[in-house]
Amino acid sequence: MGKKLVLGIMVVCVLLLAACPGKQQKLDKTLIVYYTWSEQGNTENAAKILQGLTNADMVKVEPATPFPELDTGEFIAWAREQLENQSLPEIKDLVVDPASYDFIFIGTPVWYGSLSFPIEALLATTDFGGKPVACFAMANSNEGEVLTNFENKVKNGQVKEGIALRMRDETEVEAKITEWVNGLRQ
Ligand SMILES: Cc1cc2nc3c(=O)[nH]c(=O)nc-3n(C[C@H](O)[C@H](O)[C@H](O)COP(=O)(O)O)c2cc1C
Repeated sequence: MGKKLVLGIMVVCVLLLAACPGKQQKLDKTLIVYYTWSEQGNTENAAKILQGLTNADMVKVEPATPFPELDTGEFIAWAREQLENQSLPEIKDLVVDPASYDFIFIGTPVWYGSLSFPIEALLATTDFGGKPVACFAMANSNEGEVLTNFENKVKNGQVKEGIALRMRDETEVEAKITEWVNGLRQ
């Protein structure tokens, strides 16, 4: 009888442990919103790695009208105008409400030592409903102030530690993102 009772308690404990969310589920109902532009799709690649680790929904930010082609004089003139006038491009409406998620990752390429314009436009128009938000930024060689600027521009979100990766870290992107996400889960 005593043995049966102990066994019964053990079975209940195992079932309870299986049913209760553990540490690994802290990032459940997670959203990844990202923008990517270069042919390599560095931010998109990072977003996919992150999705593999978190099982998140993933949404790409799209400009409302296409930008001038990268590396052309037209693009440089357009970008300079955006910077000088502090104007931001219009982006298409997101198909989801970030505030309905428990954790939101925002991925951006580094542009001019800061956020890419579309992600800046997203932050200017998004209320994160007090939810945790973390930035991952992909740079070539100099991430500048991207993470600080991100923190300053998030509206109504709890900004968590972000990560900025340089492309010379390419072979380590997956390991670095994994380490970062595990840190966020603690
Ligand atoms: C307009 C523009 C500005 C950029 N400015 C920077 C910069 O300040 N520092 C840097 O390290 N890389 C800069 N880059 C390079 C991108 O950050 C880098 O290539 C990034 O990995 C691209 O991400 P993507 O493939 O997701 O577009 C810039 C790229 C563009 C198009």
